[in-house]
Amino acid sequence: MSEYIIETNGLTRRFGKHVSVDHIDLRVPEGKIYGFLGANGAGKTTTIRMLLSLIRADEGSVQIMGKSLQHEREKILRNVGSLVEGPSYYGHLSAYKNLKIICKLMDLPEKDIDQVLDIVRLAPYAKKTVKDYSLGMKQRLGIAQALIRRPKLLILDEPINGLDPAGIQEIRNLMLSLCHEQGITIFLSSHILSEIQSVAEEIGIIQNGKLIFQNSIKELENKRRTKLLIETENQQEAFRALSSAGADVVLQDGKLLISLTEKMDQSRIFNILQPFSIQHMQELTASFEDIFLTLTGRDGSL
Ligand SMILES: Nc1ncnc2c1ncn2[C@@H]1O[C@H](COP(=O)(O)OP(=O)(O)OP(=O)(O)O)[C@@H](O)[C@H]1O
Ligand SMILES: [Mg+2]
Repeated sequence: MSEYIIETNGLTRRFGKHVSVDHIDLRVPEGKIYGFLGANGAGKTTTIRMLLSLIRADEGSVQIMGKSLQHEREKILRNVGSLVEGPSYYGHLSAYKNLKIICKLMDLPEKDIDQVLDIVRLAPYAKKTVKDYSLGMKQRLGIAQALIRRPKLLILDEPINGLDPAGIQEIRNLMLSLCHEQGITIFLSSHILSEIQSVAEEIGIIQNGKLIFQNSIKELENKRRTKLLIETENQQEAFRALSSAGADVVLQDGKLLISLTEKMDQSRIFNILQPFSIQHMQELTASFEDIFLTLTGRDGSL
């Protein structure tokens, strides 16, 4: 059995000639929050729709909880809760009644309703009609609707879209407690890097339908390229020497700013600069955004 709760192999979806999801191999470990990051139109929702069997894949396979989605769809989806592109509910009914309808339809125990409302912190408003809820409360009702079936896996497509800072904080805390206290794996999509960074342990980055990075957030942080800020006795000559050796270097406020790479590491730079005698040196670490831009290229608008 796979060690991953979600595993896709070569998952692909085209719309006409456009390849919206291009041979992606997701590896989502159990018991964690996995952040699926991508700009508008990158292919997040299309991927999620395929994971939930809402649309078919053109190529590739999906395994969830070690089972083939193609062959055991119903068995799998019984254990998956989801919220894709906003909740649907009866606005003229209360949250409690909305959940009761789901329980009836899906043959689930109604005794769980109070607990679920408690988890999403809607218990005090359980009897209020949903049309009077704030956007954040509606979003939490959507999550309650997914939770009522006691899923092992929760798939949330941009759950914080349109929420104010307080609403965002509520959903963020809710995701953390669902994962760490209830042991639910969460697959969460977002186009906001800081949002993923604040909750997820694992991250997959999708760009133009391709998965361009997938690993732990820790690994991504290890990719931070350090830069060196150096002053020598002859900056112009030193700059020329570095440039002609192929270093990524700029003169910034009279100082040499050099990007470290595998080839152009610290000792290589020291070698090149030996004739110019280094007077001052400072190490700079790239921000998370910088690493991200390095991965996506400067135009990867996110
Ligand atoms: N039903 C469809 N028909 C035609 N094209 C589609 C359809 N659904 C998605 N696409 C295209 O597939 C690409 C990926 O769309 P998708 O909705 O998956 O992106 P996304 O990452 O969820 O973006 P957003 O952040 O805007 O929600 C886009 O170019 C989109 O236009
Ligand atoms: Mg989307």
